[in-house]
Amino acid sequence: MRALGVGILGLGNVGAGTVRLLGEHRARIEARLGASLHIRRVLVRDPARERAVATAPGLLTTDIEAVLGDPEIAVVVELMGGIEPARSYILAALRAGKHVVTANKAVLAERGAEIFAEAARVGRAVVFEGSVAGGIPLLRSLREGLASDRITGLCGIVNGTSNYILDAMTRTGAGFAEALAGAQAAGYAEADPTLDVGGGDAAHKLALLALVAFGVQVDPSTMPTEGISGITAFDIRAAAELGFVIKSLAIGQRDDHGVSLRVHPTLVPRGHVLAGVQGAFNAVLVQSDALGPSLYYGRGAGMMPTAVAVVSDILEVARDILAGLYSGTGPSGQPAIPPATPAT
Ligand code: NDP
Ligand code: HSE
Repeated sequence: MRALGVGILGLGNVGAGTVRLLGEHRARIEARLGASLHIRRVLVRDPARERAVATAPGLLTTDIEAVLGDPEIAVVVELMGGIEPARSYILAALRAGKHVVTANKAVLAERGAEIFAEAARVGRAVVFEGSVAGGIPLLRSLREGLASDRITGLCGIVNGTSNYILDAMTRTGAGFAEALAGAQAAGYAEADPTLDVGGGDAAHKLALLALVAFGVQVDPSTMPTEGISGITAFDIRAAAELGFVIKSLAIGQRDDHGVSLRVHPTLVPRGHVLAGVQGAFNAVLVQSDALGPSLYYGRGAGMMPTAVAVVSDILEVARDILAGLYSGTGPSGQPAIPPATPAT
């Protein structure tokens, strides 16, 4: 049976979940692909650190060249987070002929133009289902499910940590700091949680949603973005008395004049479908011409939900490799997302 090598960069929450799923579902994956996936190296900072998943001796490395220089590794899975060195490693992986799977919305939202251009130049894939809405197959639904439709708007909860905090403050009366600590302990928050509570993580995700849904490349720093750190228990009580729930929403709209994108806390009527979204769950309402409204709901953060999305991307790339999509001479493969036009 043919074997494809996988290299993983990062063995934190999502990396550990990915290793676990690839191990637990090895037989199903082999049956589905007609090939086996072998994790050959996992890059970490501190090999002595206790991990949420057991690894074979010698699997962990602190040397990126052990991953990039391994000719058996066809797919590099970046799960470190942040801009650098993630950006440099992704570019180096593409130049070394590897395909890239990542859940890192920050690096794609801020350096995506460069990364997608390099992927197109070298004919390798960059796929990123886990980067938006955790385990919900949202990007794939927008990309494939609505391929023959025109998406005109989307609106939803895409940061699990913010929703967890607002939900805890609303339902249990928890304080902001206590609720944030709960989200961090559950593995939902970013290494830098100001990205979550400041709205930056949702803006990164909205930029990627806009790329896939509207085909525009947007600098997230130009997006009106307001986080939830200013929301008080008084605000939540006052909203409740008026029949509303406060939710942090990412909103994208397209009309004949262009695309508008914004992230901010919003008063949502209590009976609205987004008002009942609890904990770190995400929910995104999409409006498209032919289908009309559609709703995507599920666990938007956390080790195992996000790992489901990452593994689905690894399988997609593996299937394409095995189907010979990348076997021609020169840059024959197609990046999963075609180069976008800048927003007008
Ligand atoms: P963690 O902080 O839990 O894990 C990061 C891992 O990357 C650690 O194993 C760390 O090594 C390793 N790492 C970080 N920097 C370096 C470096 N310079 N060299 C080598 N290894 C490095 O992050 P998460 O797993 O939570 O998140 C990973 C990515 O997934 C991020 O981009 C995040 O935004 C995204 N994501 C996270 C979700 C979640 O719910 N947590 C959901 C969706 C996406 P060491 O362990 O040795 O320190
Ligand atoms: N920190 C992110 C969140 C992880 O809370 O939504 C999932 O992308």
